[in-house]
Amino acid sequence: MAHSDELIEAARRAREHAVASFSHFKVGAALETADGVIVTGCNVENATYGLTICAERVAMFKALSEGHRRFTRVAVVADTSDPTPPCGACRQILWEFGGDLEVLLANLAETKGRYRLKELLPLPFDGRLLGERS
Ligand code: THU
Repeated sequence: MAHSDELIEAARRAREHAVASFSHFKVGAALETADGVIVTGCNVENATYGLTICAERVAMFKALSEGHRRFTRVAVVADTSDPTPPCGACRQILWEFGGDLEVLLANLAETKGRYRLKELLPLPFDGRLLGERS
């Protein structure tokens, strides 16, 4: 398992690649797999605005597309004094594919928060409910 700082550092480096031409709000994410691999993502904005994808979902979709299926932690880094938590859409995707991840929130200087995903998404909708349809 990577040291926390290593995961946060990876998210900080990923943030540098953010394509945030419209909001100028750069975010980096780093996802740790169960076997210790780190997969990163940054936010990518485009001219429609609405097709923007957050750093966390980029990291998760990259990881899934590379064959990873089990995850332990995610770090999110933005240049804010208050922690920047994953948006609602990202909480859903992280939950469905990552389960009750540890979520580390940091800015460029320090770690600002540490949560379990279940705390951030307390009553989740997921595939278990689909299995109950008649
Ligand atoms: N954003 C992320 O990438 N992750 C978050 O946790 C919050 C928001 C991005 C989306 C958009 O490109 C910019 O930040 C402003 O909302």
